[in-house]
Parts: sequence; C-alpha cells; structure tokens
Amino acid sequence: MISINRPWLSDEEKKEILMVLDEGILTSPALKGGKKVQEFESLLRSYLNIKHVIAVNSGTSALLAALLALELKEGDEVLLPSFTFVASANSVVAAGGTPVFVDINKVDYTIDIGDLATKITNSTRAIMPVHLYGHPADMDEIFELAKSNSIEVIEDACQSLGSEYRKRQTGTIGSMGCFSMYASKVLTSGEGGAITTDDDLLADRLRMIRNHGMVEGYDTRIFGLNLRLPEISAAIAKGQMKKLNEMLERRRSNANLLNDMLTHSDADGFTTPTEPEDGHKKFNWYLYTVAIDSQQSEDRISKSGQPNYGDDRDLIKDKMTNAAKIGVAVYYDPPVHLTPYYNELVQSRLSNQIQEIPNNLKTTEWASKHVLSLPVHPLLSAQDIEYIANSFKSAKENIKK
Ligand SMILES: Cc1ncc(COP(=O)(O)O)c(C=O)c1O
Repeated sequence: MISINRPWLSDEEKKEILMVLDEGILTSPALKGGKKVQEFESLLRSYLNIKHVIAVNSGTSALLAALLALELKEGDEVLLPSFTFVASANSVVAAGGTPVFVDINKVDYTIDIGDLATKITNSTRAIMPVHLYGHPADMDEIFELAKSNSIEVIEDACQSLGSEYRKRQTGTIGSMGCFSMYASKVLTSGEGGAITTDDDLLADRLRMIRNHGMVEGYDTRIFGLNLRLPEISAAIAKGQMKKLNEMLERRRSNANLLNDMLTHSDADGFTTPTEPEDGHKKFNWYLYTVAIDSQQSEDRISKSGQPNYGDDRDLIKDKMTNAAKIGVAVYYDPPVHLTPYYNELVQSRLSNQIQEIPNNLKTTEWASKHVLSLPVHPLLSAQDIEYIANSFKSAKENIKK
C-alpha cells in the first residue's frame, strides 16, 4: 500500500532520541523549555529567519496559544476558512472566540479575499488564513484588509512549512504563525507544533502560556496550560531538521513528475495544482490535490436534475484505494461548517441574530465534493509516481464508460 504521507526517519532521529534517553531528562518545566526543545527551536528559527520559535505539543496547541495570547473577549470574531482541518476552528472556540467562516477561491483553495472583506465587522479581532495543502494564501490582500481594520493576522501554517509567499516563509508573515509536526506533516515529531513571532512581548506571553502561565514555577501570571513538547519529540524534530531541504526537494520533484504525467495526458476533466507562473507563491507540496470536475458528471447532473457531483471523485478514490492500493485522500469532506457541531453553532448564531451569516460558502462546498489528494511524499520513487499517475488515469477512464 502506498500511503498518502509517510515520515522519513533515519539514523539522525535515532541518535538524537538515544541522547535524551541516556541523559534521562524527558521534559522540562523551565520557561525556556528543555535542551532538545531549545536546540530544535534554534534550528527552526534560522530556517524561517524569525526572531522567536516556541515549540509546543501539537499544531492545535500552537493555534490555541496564539489565540490565547490575543486575550479574546466574548463575542470576538476570528475569520477563517471552513475548508480546513477542524483544529483551526476548534482552537478559536477553545480560546473563547467566535469562528466566522469565509469561503475559499477556486484557484488554490485558500481564503477568498472578496468574501473576507464582506465578513469583517466591528467584532472581528483576527484573520486566520490557512495555507491549505501548502498553498500560500493571498497575504498582501489579507494584510491590506487587516491593516485598514486594525485586525491581527495569525497564520495557520500547519500544512505549509517550507512554502513561500513573495520569497518569505509562510508562518512568518502574520503577527504569529502556527506549525504542526503531526506524523503526516512535511517535518514531524509524531505529535508537535511551533509558534513563530518577531514580537518580543508576544514571545514572552507564548512561553508562559505553554507552561501554565508560570515564569519561575507556581507563580501563574496569565492563563496557560501544559502545552510543552516532550524532549523525545523535540529530538525527533531536531533530527528531521537536518533533512528538511532534501525532503522538500523530493516532494517538489515528485509533484513535478506527477504534473508532467497528468497534464500531458489525454485524460480530461480534472485540474492539477500549479504554482503561479510569476513565482509569488512557492508550494512545499505537502499535498498534491487535483479537482475532478468532468463534463460527463456535469451532464449527468443536468439530465437527472439531481446534484450528483462528487460521484466521480468518490469512484476514482475507491478504485485507487481498493484496486491499486494507493492511499489517496479527501481533505476535507465535510467542510467544518457542515460538521454536526459547527452546523449547530452556525444555525444557533443565525437564529439568535447575533450576526447575519449568508450561506455563501459555495466554493468550499464545491471543493469538498471534487478534491482528491495524491501521494508525493519523499519516500516515493519515480516508478511509484508513474504507477500513481497511470492508476489515476485508468480510474478516470473507467468512469467515462
Ligand atoms: C490546517 C491545519 N490546522 C491545524 C492542524 C492541527 O495540528 P495538529 O494535528 O498537530 O494538532 C492541522 C493538522 O492536522 C492542520 O492541517
């Protein structure tokens, strides 16, 4: 079975883990973190060219800490896409804010600037763009809106380590950036995360928040939790940093290969992901996501009058998973606003008329029924990529019949 993502682990990580075990210090309640935590933070700081990195125990914790640092008050709204992993919205709720969902654009599935502008109210405290699949969001336009409305920008860069927007690393552009090191991510520590900032005061707050708001121990000054990254996890992350560039290069070369094989094929009815030609967005190729949108399926819709879009995508997915044993995946169906918990939350807000929320998440709902991600992780060979491309084309051809 070819999985959608797989961590590349080698002697480097083993060596770092053994050092922790030999020393016998598995974690540290110190404000600055343990030895491996600090070593990892220093490597990531240099890679990202940012003043502060605060390692935490998940991407969710990174988002939560960043939002806690803002000290949201009841009713404060955070604008974010619904087309994301639910952790983005959950962290807003956990920090006491109100998530307000914004639609995405059809080009790279990141937050739609037109819709974003219409959703800003007097209660908006922050915008949380998500660099989904490693596609950088339109940061210039987001900042223009944020600045003119005095709103913070917190980047959900959980999927985008190594992606660049106008030659700047994603996750270093907003006042804070949040990364995940979950097992499937470009760089992993099993579970883990990191927050970045250039702001000294925010960095101080974030270090306290990761440690129950304490500075010297038992002197809680602000609200915080135990969000600390264990030393063994930090050791894995440190080992991974040594090959980050190579992992990204391999992803890029696999994605390029897949693009060549799919773009120049005679199979139609799908869109491959492409970086903008002017180079202002550089992808890390965390996920290679196609949109399946064939004329055949549109014809069937118009004949039957029933919206059956998504059928083709699901048929291709089943074929590739079950017959070809390729772990293709759908990120995300349903989108967050259609999950039972958030659907209820949005409906109850509507009925309380606290806020007018028009149902204009149309591209989000379209994307959730059309996208399909194919593997391009660094452990795949050129033959694997060829096999994936051929399996995709043959699954696609099959549904035409
Ligand atoms: C867009 C996005 N936000 C947040 C998270 C949460 O990260 P974690 O799973 O490390 O808590 C993830 C990770 O899956 C993610 O993909």
